[in-house]
Amino acid sequence: MEQGDDTPLKRVILDRIKESGPMTFAAYMAACLYEPGLGYYTSPGRKVGAEGDFYTSSNVHAVFGRLIARELCRMWEVLEKPVRFEIVEVGAGNGRLARDILDAVGERNPDFYGALTYRLIEAEPSLAQSQREILNGHLDRAAWSDPADLAAGRLSFTGCLLSNELIDAFPVHVVEMTAAGLREVYVTAAGDELGEEFGPPSTAELEERLRYLGITLHQGQRAEINLAAPRWLASVARALDRGFVMTIDYGYPATELYAPMRKNGTLLCYYRHTVEENPYVRPGLQDMTSHVDFTTLVRRGEELGLKTAWFGEQYRFLMGAGMMEEMLAMEAGAATEEERLKGRLALKKLLLPDGGMGDTFMVLIQAKGVERPELLCMREWGKGL
Ligand SMILES: C[S@@+](CC[C@H](N)C(=O)[O-])C[C@H]1O[C@@H](n2cnc3c(N)ncnc32)[C@H](O)[C@@H]1O
Repeated sequence: MEQGDDTPLKRVILDRIKESGPMTFAAYMAACLYEPGLGYYTSPGRKVGAEGDFYTSSNVHAVFGRLIARELCRMWEVLEKPVRFEIVEVGAGNGRLARDILDAVGERNPDFYGALTYRLIEAEPSLAQSQREILNGHLDRAAWSDPADLAAGRLSFTGCLLSNELIDAFPVHVVEMTAAGLREVYVTAAGDELGEEFGPPSTAELEERLRYLGITLHQGQRAEINLAAPRWLASVARALDRGFVMTIDYGYPATELYAPMRKNGTLLCYYRHTVEENPYVRPGLQDMTSHVDFTTLVRRGEELGLKTAWFGEQYRFLMGAGMMEEMLAMEAGAATEEERLKGRLALKKLLLPDGGMGDTFMVLIQAKGVERPELLCMREWGKGL
């Protein structure tokens, strides 16, 4: 089925609702993205890049991975060059970021490369094949684990856990403040159509989260609550012996995320590079995301022993990590004027604020067991550390 509204997954969801009653939006989103064989991420087809539905920074240009590699080298040094350092990338997708990071580390720092294991964790098992192909030159450094290994506490490492656009793809609950108090959005089946209705919150955790954040929604205001994110962070904190967690994603601190001006929340769908606001069309064929609540990650992280080392916009992170040095190297190394132009355009896209990726995306770096987490992103531009 192509663009139509009636996807095979829609039938499955309608039947499920008819059998068991309305489902929370989180359950609906989980099905849309991860239903085996039918969900957006769990069915065949290109998702990211020109032929897909959206771009991620790692698919814009290898310079994104090269800049992250600079910061990872710095982390290895800050930890006093442990003989084994793992980079654990969760939501590793097609493996492009992993390849760009390994290429850069291999070129620039053979000692660090020799200490490295790059572990890829991806919810969609079929991507392992393309990851292996793209990492062809680095297979002796690469390792794979299942999301369940992380969730069940089977991993333990010193190094850095990295994710790019992972947490925005976790299923969220949707709530709305009404005259009768906080209500949750449930997905319903009316004949052959999906709809929604309000019901009491499915779990007390929803109101608890808003209280934890000191947020009061205004009447008529809708918001998403990501209960999966802090649970995931707890498994990350448990797996990390010593080192860093680097989270790159779009989002805001809670006061901005839940500001009254965002009356309809931040839930968005992407289909072939266009934004779709209706989550009930093309279930399983369009991506669905919501902005990340960075306050919960920061606070919950502190409670779990993850100290906030740095939080800021992607463009500030990339500048600090060595954007100027990379730009000069790109200019010097480009074989043709076209290649040079491509490099400049990519940097522009990654750095540009006001609608570009530069300030839509935020970078959060948390540290565990690190006395002085002096990272490149902390340096004042134009000065060394
Ligand atoms: C928006 S894509 C980003 C892919 C890649 N990081 C990039 O920048 O291009 C999100 C990816 O996270 C994966 N994912 C979602 N939940 C996950 C989890 N709990 N563990 C591992 N991967 C997960 C999805 O299957 C999908 O490939």
